[in-house]
Amino acid sequence: MLDKRNELNAWDRDHFFHPSTHMGMHARGETPTRVIGGGEGVYITDINGKKSLDAFAGLYCVNVGYGRQKIADAIAAQAKNLAYYHAYVGHGTEASITLSKMIIDRAPEGMSRVYFGLSGSDANETNIKLIWYYNNILGRPEKKKIISRWRGYHGSGVMTGSLTGLELFHKAFDLPRAPILHTEAPYFFRRADRSMNEEQFAQYCADKLEEMILAEGPETVAAFIGEPILGTGGIVPPPNTYWQKIQAVLDKYDILLVADEVVTGFGRLGTMFGSDHYGMKPDLITIAKGLTSAYAPLSGSIVSDKMWQVLVQGSDQLGAIGHGWTYSAHPICAAAGIANLELIDELGIVENAGSTGAYFRSELAKAVGEHKHVGEVRGDGLMASVEFVEDRDDRKFFDPAKKIGPQVAAALLERGVIGRAMPQGDILGFAPPLCLTRDEADIVVRATADAIRSVFSNL
Ligand SMILES: Cc1ncc(COP(=O)(O)O)c(C=O)c1O
Repeated sequence: MLDKRNELNAWDRDHFFHPSTHMGMHARGETPTRVIGGGEGVYITDINGKKSLDAFAGLYCVNVGYGRQKIADAIAAQAKNLAYYHAYVGHGTEASITLSKMIIDRAPEGMSRVYFGLSGSDANETNIKLIWYYNNILGRPEKKKIISRWRGYHGSGVMTGSLTGLELFHKAFDLPRAPILHTEAPYFFRRADRSMNEEQFAQYCADKLEEMILAEGPETVAAFIGEPILGTGGIVPPPNTYWQKIQAVLDKYDILLVADEVVTGFGRLGTMFGSDHYGMKPDLITIAKGLTSAYAPLSGSIVSDKMWQVLVQGSDQLGAIGHGWTYSAHPICAAAGIANLELIDELGIVENAGSTGAYFRSELAKAVGEHKHVGEVRGDGLMASVEFVEDRDDRKFFDPAKKIGPQVAAALLERGVIGRAMPQGDILGFAPPLCLTRDEADIVVRATADAIRSVFSNL
């Protein structure tokens, strides 16, 4: 076994190009390789036998937890019966058709069809193309700009990396590309004017959006995209009334809303969709992670009836839509999706995300909220984060070179719990599997409090 482990380590450093990894440090062996061998419930185990409570559910995706026999069986049965057939020119499988129906049954009102992809990034690429296609069909070829937010995360492709509003994803990639613009992040804790309350700050964000639309010309702005709650940008819930105020501006200028629910879709906020939770009225919804709990890669663009009617007219003018992926609606992934959505209902996982989420966030705030280097503990449903500051009064950032966020995440891992050092700012994020129990939440809270104490006492 030791030989095998050494061999894997060597192959990894020599041949595996890891995403979101410091390439030089990894290849030189300066950062650890962790080879994960198994998972059960909320725990994963590496090949050295070290067990960790995964309080980030992989990348906020393993919502039903690891090791679910029902999903594994569904995948195996589908692979045996029919591993693949495409979805072009009206083809389908029992799995892909059934899953479409199950998604629309659970989606917010007014949703009509699902276009399947494999990742959140490709689903957002589809969304942009559909938005452009829609406006071309309506005879508005100039209405093409998409407004996203600073700190939003929408993927890593050329267009979706442009939609993403985080510097790391732009730097040296020549992104963002036109026609994508970024507006104010709804980041109440970091608002420039501290005298504003939540509603005033929400109004300020809506006013900034309207200013941008007017400066660009409303006839050139096609859509606004946002995650119901900022995820990778720091797990930041919107200020009270934010979505109502944004929605009013979009309605005024006939601008489509894309709700990127890659993280929030299928229960994370204690409702099936984040749009229901915050009263958003999207024209397109992006789904991925929670759709299969990552047992197989599958994403989707849920298209509203309003857009669908126009797209149908488009086919009558333009012929079949020139947009397709080989693996769209892959039957093995669809079978995983069906079993996963059934399991979510059987286990009452959406309700658990709401109730255990509220418990977890309140225990976390009690345990670490008063620490002199904790600026804010925030979140919603089963998403939470702790933001560290050098000074609580003026909310001063730490010198990024100190890498406070990664240090706390490393100390937490030493204590057997996985949290995520979010990529921009000193922020520790949590998004555990939605089956988390109160006892497991207590383990995460105790380990976090201890990790924070240890990092700051050594500073
Ligand atoms: C809100 C959101 N949208 C899109 C994506 C991109 O998904 P993927 O990594 O599957 O391309 C992510 C990934 O974390 C996400 O959080």
